[in-house]
Amino acid sequence: MEAIIRTVNLCRDFSSGGEVVHALRDVNISINPGALTVLRGRSGSGKTTLINLLGALDRPTSGDIYLFHKKISDLPENKRDELRRTSMGFVFQSVALIGLMSAYENVEFALRIAGYDRKKQKERAQECLEFVGLGQRMNHRPHELSGGEQQRVAIARAIAHHPKVLFADEPTAELDTQMGLQVLKVFRDLVEREKLTVVMTTHDPNMMDLADYVYTLEDGQVIDGIESGSKGGRKHQ
Ligand SMILES: Nc1ncnc2c1ncn2[C@@H]1O[C@H](COP(=O)(O)OP(=O)(O)OP(=O)(O)O)[C@@H](O)[C@H]1O
Ligand SMILES: [Mg+2]
Repeated sequence: MEAIIRTVNLCRDFSSGGEVVHALRDVNISINPGALTVLRGRSGSGKTTLINLLGALDRPTSGDIYLFHKKISDLPENKRDELRRTSMGFVFQSVALIGLMSAYENVEFALRIAGYDRKKQKERAQECLEFVGLGQRMNHRPHELSGGEQQRVAIARAIAHHPKVLFADEPTAELDTQMGLQVLKVFRDLVEREKLTVVMTTHDPNMMDLADYVYTLEDGQVIDGIESGSKGGRKHQ
């Protein structure tokens, strides 16, 4: 299968207090399209650093990142910004919805910012909220929704502009297992029904079974990459 994202000897150093932290060291991974890839590892292992690089939110110290064969790691900031706006969606640990807006308004507002066709904004916002199972909750404000429901609104908002890849950094960390699994179920549906590519980080072992691919990070290095779930434990290149 042809990778949608590929990294080559990716390194990211941070300097803090006169010391250099090697947050990522020679990471070589491929993200397959239409699949759910999980990056797992202990706190401090480099998951956020890696997902921020894949999502063009940060630049590597050395090494390269390719999206559809195009090198994106050395693009100027305006091009990376455009790439994020058009091809990528992001979901974070803390949900950050706009509190004064309803679920529907939050999604519609994101579409407006993305410059989405005005005539189609309403329909698309509704469609996305229905997709995440919140068709009956569209007019609720965030504080009238559970944590899992709020995270699903955030997912609806992140996918509304039809990104090619959805990145999620610890999207279930603030949820209990039940709500976390609901969120994972939405990711699975997106992969299966919409053929979306999803990359998420987690340190919750309960979430692994629903992944197609799992990469384990330890101390800034990828120590293995396996195909998981029902498809068996084949080694992932
Ligand atoms: N801006 C920064 N400046 C200095 N060091 C940093 C910076 N960002 C991350 N680091 C260091 O890089 C390493 C990897 O951090 P990262 O946030 O990627 O870990 P993580 O796997 O996401 O951890 P967690 O599970 O706690 O979110 C850590 O040692 C961290 O202290
Ligand atoms: Mg992190």
